[in-house]
Amino acid sequence: MSAHVQLPSGYTLSACDTIDSTNEQAKRLAAEGAPQGTVVWARRQTAGRGRRGRAWISEPGNLYASVLLRPRCPPAQALQISFVAANAMTAAAAELIGPRVLVKAKWPNDVLAGGRKVAGILLESSPGASGSLAWLIAGIGLNIAHHPPATEYPATSLAAEGAGAVTVEAALGAVLRHFALGLDLWQKAGFEPVRQIWLSHAAALGERITVRLFNETLEGTFAGLDEAGALILQTGAERRRITAGDVFPAAA
Ligand code: BTN
Repeated sequence: MSAHVQLPSGYTLSACDTIDSTNEQAKRLAAEGAPQGTVVWARRQTAGRGRRGRAWISEPGNLYASVLLRPRCPPAQALQISFVAANAMTAAAAELIGPRVLVKAKWPNDVLAGGRKVAGILLESSPGASGSLAWLIAGIGLNIAHHPPATEYPATSLAAEGAGAVTVEAALGAVLRHFALGLDLWQKAGFEPVRQIWLSHAAALGERITVRLFNETLEGTFAGLDEAGALILQTGAERRRITAGDVFPAAA
């Protein structure tokens, strides 16, 4: 497939027309020894996956890509990269849409435009030798031309938010440029500046939210993000640390 994507230095592109899932393809390449910075991009996925086992509808026109990394640090630290990816997607979406529409990050790693979901990230990893990960894959989906009509959390696309003509190639280039800068910052300065950037564009910070966990639903105030990336939920006198779940605005 011919592709004109501006890549940051140290990144290589593996592009194809149709694939089951770019995350699955990145895993196959990882098993074959592909290096850090390998980017898998497909125009269409036949088995695109979202968080928590959900399907990710992947018809042509939107961005479907996965970045393969080989972080040399403890797994808990490596998972901070999901916020590097969320910051990159937020910055790229804001740049592509322009200043008319508010773009925000929704915990843990969704991106909202005008209050609706425009992008999501699926982070997957595999344990390696000596306490670090063998690989970590950040799968990114950005709605450019279309979005699913009936989703639990309302969805949108760059086109629906009034962005001009954005090519998938330009969007991938923008995401990777921001991602490379963020990864560099994280490697040099650690999680704190990444956390601060995320908080600076966090949706619903300080507001009442509902958090749906696997086995219960909680309501409280979104009080912050801790040093490990967990959401801090204030419920009355109690502060709860949430490490996985879906966030919604609290029912009025
Ligand atoms: C979510 O919000 O649930 C995460 C969506 C992640 C979708 C992307 S599209 C590219 C990559 N390949 C997949 O199968 N999923 C991710």
